[in-house]
Amino acid sequence: MLAHPKTDAILNPSTPQPLNPSTPQLLNLLIDTFMQKFWFLLLVLASSLLSVQSCYYDNEQDLYGGVDGCDTTAVKYSAQVTNLLENNCYACHSVASDVAGSPFDTYETLLPLAQSGKLVERINDAANPMPPTGLMPDCDRLKIEAWVNAGALKN
Ligand code: HEC
Repeated sequence: MLAHPKTDAILNPSTPQPLNPSTPQLLNLLIDTFMQKFWFLLLVLASSLLSVQSCYYDNEQDLYGGVDGCDTTAVKYSAQVTNLLENNCYACHSVASDVAGSPFDTYETLLPLAQSGKLVERINDAANPMPPTGLMPDCDRLKIEAWVNAGALKN
């Protein structure tokens, strides 16, 4: 005797339930599509993260190294540093013309300002710049910073 499948299932619980075949197929299709999209999205996300990181890298290069012909390697006190300070600072910060009350026209007087961070702070302080007439060009400030970061050596 042929019973209706549902009736058969109720009467005969051990009989496997006939599943609607289209449901799992549709589900599989959806999962497949989602996974494909998922991997694609993951790829897009990963590559965009990478490019953001390279942007950071670029910026760091702009700030700290070799961009636009600004050579911050091997900056020496006896050469670039004294040269920049002489041109921009000694008018007020030397023993001879002590306008500011803090002469630093010798290595020994400059060192404490370099080590305390005051030198780098004031040459980059747009609100209270040194020299007072306005910040020096980026490259000049980067050179002084590089010298301080390298240990403010008497080189
Ligand atoms: C026109 C004069 C003038 C020039 C040029 C000048 N300064 Fe100054 N500077 C001052 C005066 C005045 C002060 C004290 C008032 C203040 O801190 O703003 C001062 C203070 C400072 C201080 C703080 C000192 C301390 O002990 O707290 C630093 C650091 C400094 N100057 C660095 C520089 C550097 C570096 C340059 C050159 C790139 C420079 N200044 C150029 C006038 C000048």
